[in-house]
Amino acid sequence: MPDLNFDSHNTLYATHGLHAYAAKCPPQLARYGLRYYSRSGDTVLDPMAGSGTTLVEARLMGRHSRGYDIDPLACLIARVKARGVRDAEVEEVYADIARHAARDVVAMNSPRPPAAVARRAAPPEFTNRDYWFDSEVADALAILAYHIRHRAMSRAVREFFLVAFSSLILSKTSVANARDIIHSRHHYWRHERSPDVLGKFDARVRLMRRQVAEFRDGCAAGARSEMRLGDARRLRLREETIDLVFTSPPYATALDYPRAHFLAVAWLQAALGVSLEDYLTKAADYIGSVRGRLPTEFQLDPRLGRNGTASSVITRLAAASPSQAKRAQRYFSDMDQALGEIARVLKHRRHAIIVVCPSHIRKIAVPTQEVLVELGRGHDLRLKKSYTRTINERRRILPYLQESFGKRMDTEYVLIFQKGR
Ligand SMILES: C[S@@+](CC[C@H](N)C(=O)[O-])C[C@H]1O[C@@H](n2cnc3c(N)ncnc32)[C@H](O)[C@@H]1O
Repeated sequence: MPDLNFDSHNTLYATHGLHAYAAKCPPQLARYGLRYYSRSGDTVLDPMAGSGTTLVEARLMGRHSRGYDIDPLACLIARVKARGVRDAEVEEVYADIARHAARDVVAMNSPRPPAAVARRAAPPEFTNRDYWFDSEVADALAILAYHIRHRAMSRAVREFFLVAFSSLILSKTSVANARDIIHSRHHYWRHERSPDVLGKFDARVRLMRRQVAEFRDGCAAGARSEMRLGDARRLRLREETIDLVFTSPPYATALDYPRAHFLAVAWLQAALGVSLEDYLTKAADYIGSVRGRLPTEFQLDPRLGRNGTASSVITRLAAASPSQAKRAQRYFSDMDQALGEIARVLKHRRHAIIVVCPSHIRKIAVPTQEVLVELGRGHDLRLKKSYTRTINERRRILPYLQESFGKRMDTEYVLIFQKGR
């Protein structure tokens, strides 16, 4: 049995530390999967790619990669992490952004800011904006966002700066009036002194340039990667085109990526091409979401099998809480569709590695790994190997979810399926 616990390993090498992301997969786990189940030049797919760990490892290891995620911010982060960017262009554009932004911030702090600067410093409207962002911080963020958006640069460089911008907000030491945003509920926490947004941005850009340089040095020649907004239940890929799937899907309930991301997305609406309202509405569509309408009546979904683990868990849950049973059923039927798509695009005899975590809902054990193995069979995905690993809770789970998951959240399953016989 391979040792798949990577607690003492550095998980932030190359571009893996470019931006925080909840429930990130350790890169060493993706590396293990890619090393043993694909070859150089193969195409690897991660249909729920999050911040792009699989894609980064694929490029480092000389595999082509395709990634999809339903979350536009995830797509932006993953693209930048797996693409890298030419440092000379970053340096040149950054000098320009920094100069103009510094000039505007000084002007904004003067007794009578010029009208043009005041327009550039106009922050977007969103609920409770002034609660989460001090006005000085909001002005500086708006100015930065303006210059990132309006100065001439390539798309790759613009996206690099947008990720640097987002990382000012979604981080342990956010410039917002909140701490450790990505890993917890947004608890209000007022800074003693308004943070220096431009200074922090400068530090982020410097660090990211070093990380990208390390990534580019390590990249294998010729490996291409593509990251797109998409739904794992309806992949825009042709049949039998993928050599390996490596993915860690969302947990069965309660992970709410839009809630974790909205303070950054509020500033990036134009860049991401989505309004905050639409972004939050779409949250109900994420696999494992606790939002969205549930059917009024609870009825067991026949596609999940009448006598299998899924139906027995859902029936038990229904006795304790019909709404939790409906949510769990929605999760399993979403995962069933995602498995169907994985099977469709995977080449015959090739592998799909799915990293999942069992949970407890209302003290009822939900063995997600067993359910996925049963559902996989219905799509001609046979379990070849199953390993367990211990997850570092601090890294993998949002603390506020521990209540819903209960104590056993520390074991994760690495399921290795093969398509066909
Ligand atoms: C556990 S995270 C993946 C983390 C990733 N392995 C990493 O290291 O960053 C699960 C991802 O599934 C995405 N997701 C949820 N529903 C989806 C769907 N229907 N289609 C594609 N992605 C989805 C979430 O946005 C989230 O980024």
